[in-house]
Amino acid sequence: MSYQFYKVLHVASLFLLFTSLAAIAFSAADKRKPWAALHGIATLVAFVAGFGLLAKIGAMKAFPSWAVVKIVIWLALGAMPVILRKKPGMALQLLLASVLLGAVGSYTAVNKPGQQAAVEEVQVAPSEMPTETPPATETPAN
Ligand code: HEM
Repeated sequence: MSYQFYKVLHVASLFLLFTSLAAIAFSAADKRKPWAALHGIATLVAFVAGFGLLAKIGAMKAFPSWAVVKIVIWLALGAMPVILRKKPGMALQLLLASVLLGAVGSYTAVNKPGQQAAVEEVQVAPSEMPTETPPATETPAN
């Protein structure tokens, strides 16, 4: 499987994870089961694709600290349905906390804090910068 395949699978499974979490947070107790199942599947796929990505970027051996941070976030998001069931009155706060965890997870994936030479800033050479907006094509006078 390619790096791109794992990344699309990883991010798509996160979409399902958060969608199912929101559904669990705001649906009645007897309607939660299918969403809990989808959340479980999404959590598993995010994990497998995440490790596929780790292998593809050659980080399995070094196992950087940012990957550990992501696993801790993944564990918290995985446990969230149980917390939501125990604290139904805090559904909104718990969901906002989950989104915040997602933001930290995304930041960690993109910036890889603590990893040397983590992210090269893309430098656009001046010669490649668009000089000016192309002139609007004049409609030929009839
Ligand atoms: C088992 C836990 C996880 C592992 C091992 C993992 C690992 C990875 C790896 C290796 C990448 C690719 C980084 C790169 O392209 O250089 C990645 C990308 C990403 N991860 Fe995870 N991840 C995990 C969980 C999560 C969680 C819980 C979130 C957020 C909720 C998340 C959000 C993202 C995002 C948004 C990207 C794409 C970043 C980009 O476009 O470069 N991941 N993940």
